[in-house]
Amino acid sequence: MKYKKIGDILIIDYIPDNLDELAKKHNVKTIMKINHIQGTKREPVYKILYGCETETINKENKCLFKLDLSKVMWSKGNVNERLRIAKLVQDDETVLDMFAGIGYFSIPIGVHSNAKMVISIEINPNSYYYLCENIKLNKCDNVTPVLGDCLVETPNYKADRILMGYVKTTHHYLKVAIESLNKGGIIHYHETVPEKLIGSRPISRIKQAAGDREVELLKINKIKKYAPGVEHVVIDALID
Ligand SMILES: C[S@@+](CC[C@H](N)C(=O)[O-])C[C@H]1O[C@@H](n2cnc3c(N)ncnc32)[C@H](O)[C@@H]1O
Repeated sequence: MKYKKIGDILIIDYIPDNLDELAKKHNVKTIMKINHIQGTKREPVYKILYGCETETINKENKCLFKLDLSKVMWSKGNVNERLRIAKLVQDDETVLDMFAGIGYFSIPIGVHSNAKMVISIEINPNSYYYLCENIKLNKCDNVTPVLGDCLVETPNYKADRILMGYVKTTHHYLKVAIESLNKGGIIHYHETVPEKLIGSRPISRIKQAAGDREVELLKINKIKKYAPGVEHVVIDALID
């Protein structure tokens, strides 16, 4: 029996006897069961067990994330990665967040770094709405939201650092990302990969997409178990 509290909403993976008691114990207004996250836009398939309000504000790493848990996803397992990336950003960098969601990475970068600009591309109008809300809520004046498909929008920008925080066929987006990456820039490429391929498949995909450009592997960061024998990893790679 697992549970997690997101703002003042409790997410559980079982149906308990006494929902009233559980709500009081955790001081929440709503209890939901999220069965899975579906599709390209990462939308939750859910059931409301208690209460009715599904919008909340979750506080993490000194950032506020407003979101509606019936419309957009929240991954607790990525908490350390969200802060790790924000701390890597150097003063005056231009950062491109290709799969921005509600600002999972863009908001911590806006709050914790001195980036010159963060361009945050998101395809799901519901996520884009909360991305705009979170930019206001956290006073991130240097974060620019863009509603659209990153395959189409990315070529409009040049960046020193590109975030690819998506795990469904992310390698299809590598070429377009690398074409927008300045010389000596860094990509953070996410992939779900069988354990025995962690050291080989993601980096070879990056090298293939980079063509003649030189690729230096900086780090392989394991985020969490995705499925039995499959890890969600992030590859930090510098591309000259
Ligand atoms: C939900 S985030 C991944 C979670 C995030 N890494 C975290 O820290 O929790 C992925 C986002 O990419 C968006 N997305 C998927 N395909 C896209 C595309 N082609 N262009 C822009 N955004 C896209 C989805 O709508 C979703 O909001």
